[in-house]
Amino acid sequence: MILEGKKILIMGIRNKWSIAYGIAKSAYENGAKLLFTYVGEENKQKIEELTSEFKGSKSYVLDEASQDDVVKEVFTKIKEENGKLDGIVHAIAHAFTEDLHNDFIFTSKEGYSHACDVSAYSFVLTARMAKELDMLNENASLVTLTYHGSTKVLEGYNVMGVAKAALEASIRYLADNLGKEGIRVNGVSAGPIKTLSAKGIKDFGSILTVVEQKAPLHKNVTTTQVGNVATFLLSEMSEAITGQVIYADNGYNIMGV
Ligand SMILES: NC(=O)c1ccc[n+]([C@@H]2O[C@H](COP(=O)([O-])OP(=O)(O)OC[C@H]3O[C@@H](n4cnc5c(N)ncnc54)[C@H](O)[C@@H]3O)[C@@H](O)[C@H]2O)c1
Repeated sequence: MILEGKKILIMGIRNKWSIAYGIAKSAYENGAKLLFTYVGEENKQKIEELTSEFKGSKSYVLDEASQDDVVKEVFTKIKEENGKLDGIVHAIAHAFTEDLHNDFIFTSKEGYSHACDVSAYSFVLTARMAKELDMLNENASLVTLTYHGSTKVLEGYNVMGVAKAALEASIRYLADNLGKEGIRVNGVSAGPIKTLSAKGIKDFGSILTVVEQKAPLHKNVTTTQVGNVATFLLSEMSEAITGQVIYADNGYNIMGV
């Protein structure tokens, strides 16, 4: 129970296939009390049913994670109702479909900004707002989700790769800024998983097939396995780790051809 007594906010749960759900399962089984944010008031009932297995959890609508005023309002409410947090998981990303289907060179200015705003700036905003509102306990841990497309070209990942590169650089700068207060910042680079977001990536199925063929462990990862790595990063077991991107991809990233 390495998260016993810890209160963790998980941002970005959508359905039972979400990586956020796998993280929630692992964190809950390891003793954490959970809070969630999700998109869309109309999804309230669905999310409450989905999270009902996590006893004592609460969910909050957060429609636009890259907008300062929206995050401030939701975080203020979360703090008022729950007090300080021991960890935040950021599992949020988005790019326009056309920017994942066309060649990268055709990415529009709007599409480029949108992907970086929602998928990278939102993590910086999460960290800053949590600090400004004094929401974080000493030794709190912030964790985000990234992907190998940040450093390698994967057809169809396109502008999302650029956004993940920005996110990974943001992890390092935030780790430096917050380290003096004992707050750690890390990312989990998950192997490909069939989630609703992943469906937007052209030919995603072939990425899954290649990973199964080439990863040293010859299989794809599950959301619970990714969740276990996030749980480790949220726990004191990882107290010497900050500013890192830890791969949870069955080793695929070490391979050449
Ligand atoms: N599925 C994969 O193969 C994979 C691999 C590595 C990393 N990741 C990352 O994991 C994270 C979670 O994605 P997932 O695959 O579980 O898919 P998902 O669709 O289940 O989750 C994505 C979440 O982002 C939220 N979101 C999108 N735009 C938002 C906005 N403007 N404001 C607030 N929330 C917004 C969605 O509502 C959803 O809950 C993402 O950062 C994704 O890039 C996914």
